[in-house]
Amino acid sequence: MSAKPVRIGLCGLGTVGSGTFELLQQNAQVVAARAQAPLKIVHVGVRRDNHRCDLGDTRISRDVLEVAADPAVDILVELIGGTTVARELVETAIRNGKHVVTANKALIAEYGNEIFALADKHCVEVRFEAAVAGGIPIIKALREGLAGNRIEWLAGIINGTGNFILTEMRDQGRDFRDVLSEAQALGYAEADPTFDVDGIDAAHKLVILAAIAFGIPLQFAAVYTEGISRLTPQDVEYARELGYIIKHLGIAKQNGAGIELRVHPTLIPDHRLLADVDGVKNAILVEGNAVGPTLYYGAGAGGAPTASAIVADLVDLARDMGAGQTCRVPPLGFAREQLRDLPIVPMAEVQTPWYLRMEVEDKPGVLSAVASIFSEQGISIEALIQKAPAEGQSRVQLIVLTNKAAQGMVDLAVASIEALDTISGKVTRIRVEGLDG
Ligand code: HSE
Repeated sequence: MSAKPVRIGLCGLGTVGSGTFELLQQNAQVVAARAQAPLKIVHVGVRRDNHRCDLGDTRISRDVLEVAADPAVDILVELIGGTTVARELVETAIRNGKHVVTANKALIAEYGNEIFALADKHCVEVRFEAAVAGGIPIIKALREGLAGNRIEWLAGIINGTGNFILTEMRDQGRDFRDVLSEAQALGYAEADPTFDVDGIDAAHKLVILAAIAFGIPLQFAAVYTEGISRLTPQDVEYARELGYIIKHLGIAKQNGAGIELRVHPTLIPDHRLLADVDGVKNAILVEGNAVGPTLYYGAGAGGAPTASAIVADLVDLARDMGAGQTCRVPPLGFAREQLRDLPIVPMAEVQTPWYLRMEVEDKPGVLSAVASIFSEQGISIEALIQKAPAEGQSRVQLIVLTNKAAQGMVDLAVASIEALDTISGKVTRIRVEGLDG
């Protein structure tokens, strides 16, 4: 191959950084053939020496900013994570005229608007396929493959660690903490695993998907986020009896009032394809007005799958550089001046069916008191199960599945139910999505 090598500066050699280093070595030939130039890591920025890669004679710097300043680097790959040093690193690289590839969803979700504006000013590209759903090329699919569609909605399992935990809890009855430790040992979990469990990681990814799908600016602060740590095996089991599986979904929908942006545990019908997405796998269902529903499935975390997305971005960039046509596709697919200022729908107005579970006294009149509260709020009941009391117990579990109701109405109904003296404790509530439109 006669083309000049594309020179890469790689910062961070954790699970994803090492995976990228190794993949570029392992698939060097096929990657070079596709990129129409060899991709060569010429400088590595790594703060500690505890990585598994044999770096050979590659230049190594302990200060990652030296990589961003290196004139021998064409593309900086940022895999250090976080939003402080990583932001400085990326912005320095851009100011020095380097293209950037990153897997950092927090950085893109929280500071992407500013970073893209800076990249625009310096005529360089920022690519971030690896930031969402690991190895699944969902950014490219939304930005390019579905460019002819108006996207109506998307719903995805976009945190592998959370899905791994939910799957193990459901199938093996394992303890939440025990599964989380395994996900950390396997390199799936974030440095701070509360990001996975509390839905922050999924919210970062959802914001990026929604911006590309709907042509809106990145707005992390607007996402409603609810984690999985309060889910009980009991709810998982009752949901199953009703024909549902509980998944932690990121959902973005365009409706007449604006955009819904939400991450929360969700009951989905057990016959939907998303219900079969288990373990660390991710999947995103996207509904386009021309194409209809499309589903993207694969490994959402881990070294090699995430490296697959990073190398794809490098190949794309190398092709554009070779053709002298960088910045051909804007980061969010829309020109910045075309981004739309659509309102985010307040959660009180978001309508879904609901799963509600409460512990009630097993005596006449309790059911009718609960039913009349729903009726006062105009909430219609779709299904209801009352479990027989355990031996010697006077309290029973009552599970109600409602038709679509705005959260604001459900809040009022739940407050009235919790005030009844025949109810103990709080009402558990989980949203339901049919995923059919
Ligand atoms: N912690 C993330 C997950 C890694 O579990 O999905 C990939 O973004």
